[in-house]
Amino acid sequence: MRWRLAGDSAATVDPAEEIEHLAPAVRSDRALAQRFRRFAAEECSEASDEGAGSRTYEILSETMANDPALLGMARRCRVGQPIPNLLFAAVKRTLACFPASELARHYRSAEAGGRQAPKLGRAFTEFALAHRDRIIQYLESRMVQTNEVGRCAYLLPGFLTIAAENPGSALALLDVGASAGLNLNWDEYRYRYSSGDEFGPTDSPVVIECDARNGLPELPTAFPQVSFRLGIDLAPVNLGDDEEHRWMQALVWPEHRGRAALLSAARDVWLRSQPTILQGDTLELLPDALRDVPKDAALCVFHCHTLNQFTPEARERFESILRAESMERVVYHIPSEGERVSLRKIVGGTAETLLTARRQVHGKWIAWDTDIRVSPE
Ligand SMILES: C[S@@+](CC[C@H](N)C(=O)[O-])C[C@H]1O[C@@H](n2cnc3c(N)ncnc32)[C@H](O)[C@@H]1O
Repeated sequence: MRWRLAGDSAATVDPAEEIEHLAPAVRSDRALAQRFRRFAAEECSEASDEGAGSRTYEILSETMANDPALLGMARRCRVGQPIPNLLFAAVKRTLACFPASELARHYRSAEAGGRQAPKLGRAFTEFALAHRDRIIQYLESRMVQTNEVGRCAYLLPGFLTIAAENPGSALALLDVGASAGLNLNWDEYRYRYSSGDEFGPTDSPVVIECDARNGLPELPTAFPQVSFRLGIDLAPVNLGDDEEHRWMQALVWPEHRGRAALLSAARDVWLRSQPTILQGDTLELLPDALRDVPKDAALCVFHCHTLNQFTPEARERFESILRAESMERVVYHIPSEGERVSLRKIVGGTAETLLTARRQVHGKWIAWDTDIRVSPE
């Protein structure tokens, strides 16, 4: 059975956090504290998204929220960046240089599945204040640029559905907000779904496991040829640079040992299959990039957790570019934003949704909607 699924629209994204778009000087302690508490409740708590949480950051968000000196540091985060994620990554990156510190011991224990000791908050505060200047340098210069290969587990059904619709054609991939471009190498990875379905090269060093909660749509098992791969990012990550790799590892939360291992393995693949990533704003680069896409390939534009960094107007312009392109050729679009991933097909300016699913943010599980109507948007 091929599922044709109803539901999602492309522009389903979380509203940007208002405080993150304010200049540092006007960010109040109260709003910053609220931001950390919301982060704890919505993103760290295990109940919020199974497997994506962090008890360590849940506790430390409360530590942050209660300490004006720590909030004074958080205030310095670069405009537009998710403040708690950036703050905790900056501390973790600094911590990598102090493996004997008490806080580093707490983080290692969390990574190994240990329970957090009550002294965690104090160790964090002491460490952060002792290394304030260095941490602030990261806050002012770095961005939250995760590159989660686990997400390929929920992109793959979209890519294979496009391949099934275009037998004999290669795919042309365009990743918007590609970061390092690890997800452009999705066809080099091995996939194991709880449904028993497996895909991809058996000798890949990257093995992605995913709980397919209600199975998978019917998919071809062989991967299509990929004739074009291109990413666009405001600040592409060069994983050939050890410091960039260390920053990316710092963005991985302490308990998420599996994610850290996947990142290292995907980096090994990346070092021998480095995709091209254009540096700049999507809205400026996408029209020209689309002109370079081979006409005989099935065009697939995808993005994960990127449009939340666009303004609402930019999201609308992005959608207009795709619709304009669809006057010339079929545009397949896989947006993975907010709570859902979808596969859209845009033809002659009109979009329909072919697949839609809820999924865990790092690809640990996916739950396809099983309504088999195509949904015009
Ligand atoms: C949270 S990361 C997600 C990275 C990757 N898509 C993944 O899922 O692993 C968002 C990425 O979008 C990029 N980005 C944000 N706004 C952008 C824009 N206007 N144009 C191009 N890239 C952008 C950021 O630089 C960042 O690398």
